[in-house]
Amino acid sequence: MSVYGIPQAKQETQEPAVTTATIRAAKGQRKIAMVTAYDYASALMVDAAGVDIVLVGDSFGMVMLGRPDTISVTLEEVIHHARAVVAGVRRALVVSDMPFMTYEGGPAQAMENAARLLRASGVRAVKIEGGNIVAPQVKALVEAGIPVMGHIGLTPQRAAVLGGFKVQGKTAAADRILEEDALTLQEAGCFSLLLEAMPPAVAEIVSASLRIPTIGIGAGASCDGQVLVLHDMLGLLEGHLPRFVKQYAHLAAEGREAVARYVREVREGTFPAAEHCYSMPEEEERILRGK
Ligand code: KIV
Repeated sequence: MSVYGIPQAKQETQEPAVTTATIRAAKGQRKIAMVTAYDYASALMVDAAGVDIVLVGDSFGMVMLGRPDTISVTLEEVIHHARAVVAGVRRALVVSDMPFMTYEGGPAQAMENAARLLRASGVRAVKIEGGNIVAPQVKALVEAGIPVMGHIGLTPQRAAVLGGFKVQGKTAAADRILEEDALTLQEAGCFSLLLEAMPPAVAEIVSASLRIPTIGIGAGASCDGQVLVLHDMLGLLEGHLPRFVKQYAHLAAEGREAVARYVREVREGTFPAAEHCYSMPEEEERILRGK
């Protein structure tokens, strides 16, 4: 440990690293657990908890930077967070979002920005939002050796044209578009597909029609895996949560109580106590004090 309690090296693990092949092979065998992380400490924590995939989601723009949406997140910011996550993860597969307008321009733009992201951060796979429309980008990236996770349904980077953060695929016609998108992305080479905010029946049909695993968020239990935003599941922020979030802890309340205790103890003079102080030989202290 350093003076700030930071581990000097990541914990070694005997378990083999998770790869995109591991994720593909999980389909029909076992469920995949994915969660977001945006910094070194949370990456150490979620990796040690045994998740398969750590997502450096552009949701950090909202839950860590307090912005109203993910639109303003830049490639530089993603690289900054992704480097910290890669530093903390030993076993899980780290996937990073490509932010808004870093791939929509076409395959050449996607290749240039994905290459920068991979080189600068150390992540080995990217996630991009969109259906048929991004298939050429997926194909180009995969052919260049960059694994891609697709993302359809509610795609937050397109919330403005979707009319907000709304559930998708609620009609049979909309469902068929999602099915087509899913198949196109699979054929373009995605190693997995994130399904966000759609009725469970839609996600079930899409999952059953694909060879690649689906990872759901607000898409029911039939997906091949699940993902949650870390701040939502740990209760790090208080306020409204979507109905698909299950809170496994209430860390904002616990943290507030802990800091309030610290404030009290500092004001009362009960912190720091003797055990939090460095000692010196009595003789030296006597000399120091001139006695
Ligand atoms: O950015 C993000 O956190 C996401 C969620 C859907 C998991 O893409």
